[in-house]
Amino acid sequence: MTSSILGTGSALPEKIVTNDLLATIVDTNDEWIRDRTGICERRIATTETTTTLSVDAARIALEDAGISPEEIELIIVATLTPDGSMPNTACKVQAEIGATNAMCYELNAACAGFMYGVQTAHAFISSGILKHALIIGAETLSKIMDWTDRGTCVLFGDGAGAVVMGPSKEGIIAVEGGADGSKGHVLTCGNAPLINPFVRNEATSPYVDMDGQEVFKFAVRKIPEIVNALSAKGNVSPSDLDLVLLHQANKRIIQTAAKRLGLNEDIFPINLSKYGNTSAASIAILLDEANKSGQLKKGSLVALAGFGGGLTWAGILMKW
Ligand code: UT7
Repeated sequence: MTSSILGTGSALPEKIVTNDLLATIVDTNDEWIRDRTGICERRIATTETTTTLSVDAARIALEDAGISPEEIELIIVATLTPDGSMPNTACKVQAEIGATNAMCYELNAACAGFMYGVQTAHAFISSGILKHALIIGAETLSKIMDWTDRGTCVLFGDGAGAVVMGPSKEGIIAVEGGADGSKGHVLTCGNAPLINPFVRNEATSPYVDMDGQEVFKFAVRKIPEIVNALSAKGNVSPSDLDLVLLHQANKRIIQTAAKRLGLNEDIFPINLSKYGNTSAASIAILLDEANKSGQLKKGSLVALAGFGGGLTWAGILMKW
């Protein structure tokens, strides 16, 4: 017995922010952003929140799976941008959708968070501890952007994706993941300083700060490692893969990874042109699009891989 993805969903904010519109806010231009990243526009939350996007994506995934909220025993929301620290986003989703039998928690592994969440649910389901889980990747990254820093604010967007998972004869074949906390400084977002009656620490920047080139090098090295490790564990060759769904950070990262793996770029769907980098949400949104568009067919062999702040990375190999 393994676990499988029974249904998918996604939700995006209504507001579309084009590169040209960004160029009126910060010193940038459409040509630079397209050439260096492949991003043309992104969605930015105005009325939406991490919670509302999560709820909308979850409802669609439940309907797609044909599973009732009461059947869900675990909700994990992977996010680095919750609306508040307590109650956690999964509890808020639970209340909204009526998943009264679920335990609920948040998981932060930055852009690898959704993959960490899927792996966690896989462990619970394949071991028989529980049957159905709802895993959501959701972000409103726009609230942790320094909108005067053209090096970061043009890259990211808001959105959410969700999957319902359950027991299955076929599905997840192999998992792979890890972290290197010693390189955490290349991608950071400050936290509240320790301030109490006994100490007053300096505040750190509340915004995302990134050494883009270091993250780029890490990504193009790590993705082939993940895909090769998954293939070895699953006793298949990377050339057997029908689709590879990667975290959507930069088109050049995806192209370089495809080249290093010796695989055709066509099997790497890309949607970052529309949404930018949505961190924990990106693979979940891409998966929903691949599912609904028919790119994913029953029996497709698919690898999914995420990488990001931490530094963290994780992937799965599955038969759809
Ligand atoms: O989710 C996981 C995390 N993120 C990633 O995976 C991102 C990984 N890194 C990247 O995708 C790329 O490193 C970036 C897209 C972030 C940057 O691309 P780059 O080719 O590494 O550019 P750069 O940072 O070396 O900057 C090149 C030039 C600089 O100007 P000078 O010093 O050459 O005059 C920058 O100031 O481009 C300039 N620049 C911009 N120009 C216009 C940087 N950002 C912009 C901008 N618009 N938005």
